[in-house]
Amino acid sequence: MGIEIGIIGVGWCGGIRAITAADNPQITKLHICDIKPDRLDEVVKLSKPASFTTDYREILANPNVKMVMISTTPENTHYPICKAALLAGKHVLIEKPIAQQRHEADELIELAEKRGLVLSVGYSQRFNPRVAYIKKVIDDGTLGEPVTALSSRNLAADLGGRIQGRTKLSLAAMEATHDLDFLLWCLAPRKPIRVFSQISAKRMAKGTSNAPDHQWIMVTLDDGTTLTVGAGVIMPPGHPQYCQTYMQIIGTEGALTIYDDRSEVTLNTNQHGIRYPMSTMPGEFVGHVFEGPMATETNYFIDCVARGKPLMVKPAEARLVMEVYVAADISAERNEPVTLPRND
Ligand SMILES: NC(=O)c1ccc[n+]([C@@H]2O[C@H](COP(=O)([O-])OP(=O)(O)OC[C@H]3O[C@@H](n4cnc5c(N)ncnc54)[C@H](O)[C@@H]3O)[C@@H](O)[C@H]2O)c1
Repeated sequence: MGIEIGIIGVGWCGGIRAITAADNPQITKLHICDIKPDRLDEVVKLSKPASFTTDYREILANPNVKMVMISTTPENTHYPICKAALLAGKHVLIEKPIAQQRHEADELIELAEKRGLVLSVGYSQRFNPRVAYIKKVIDDGTLGEPVTALSSRNLAADLGGRIQGRTKLSLAAMEATHDLDFLLWCLAPRKPIRVFSQISAKRMAKGTSNAPDHQWIMVTLDDGTTLTVGAGVIMPPGHPQYCQTYMQIIGTEGALTIYDDRSEVTLNTNQHGIRYPMSTMPGEFVGHVFEGPMATETNYFIDCVARGKPLMVKPAEARLVMEVYVAADISAERNEPVTLPRND
């Protein structure tokens, strides 16, 4: 039996999810929503939904819709829409961050549990094969006992400016959250016990905002493993929504290094100079195929609901990541390490 799905917010990410869901054989009907009629119109043409609306409550009121994906911005829309969706009995995939406040995340998790609904968070990097490879070589013992891990991610300034223009959430909450999530996932069941963070603000702060350019976060796990995660937003344009990542995992028996800068594909034109296509975090459609993790993630979540596949991102894991990035922001503000779990 097929499933009807609703996608709420069909901008960049929601557009990818809508087009992917439209092509998923387990989906019988797609319903989409966006408050921007122009963008809605574009995605209607691309995904040919059964219905479309500018009011997400119409989707939630439809008893045939079993699951929704919420891809709205600004990020403070996540909690109220997610709560309304769970109250309406829908399974939910919500883009990160799950909520703005920790008590909101707790409420959503409790609501989903009480109602027997599947709730997951869009940590799409877990579906990046390079990240999955890190988990594989840690799990199968190739690297021995993990000693330290580094993930340094930098976004192009146009994307960084857009993100910082729409939310007051930190780079830890908006960007490093992905790296914290996948490193904690790869290294589970180890738990974070200490967090130290420092922020640098020189370029963005010259504009209208006082937003930071970069944030480093250092996390110590309960077995002594250390993690260092960097999140930056002032890279020159390499591609629309360009993202460059360097990852290194060192264990007692080996080391794994991943340069995820996509420089293996270089496009040079008179108009734009050098560009690195296919270098965005969620990925992009390339003709008949999709390059990147978000289409796989979308189909995986549909499988969780349709075929009971085990959930990849459990909401409690997203909650733990939230604990770490909140601690990072407190640490950066106070210029001192923060111990987890916090007792203040
Ligand atoms: N996993 C990833 O790799 C990844 C990458 C980028 C962004 N994100 C996250 O995905 C989310 C979406 O980001 P984006 O870049 O696609 O944003 P976007 O701004 O391109 O799209 C968001 C859309 O939501 C719509 N919207 C806002 N309020 C709405 C409402 N009440 N009802 C219906 N539609 C509404 C907006 O009109 C807009 O079209 C964000 O939370 C972001 O943090 C995840």
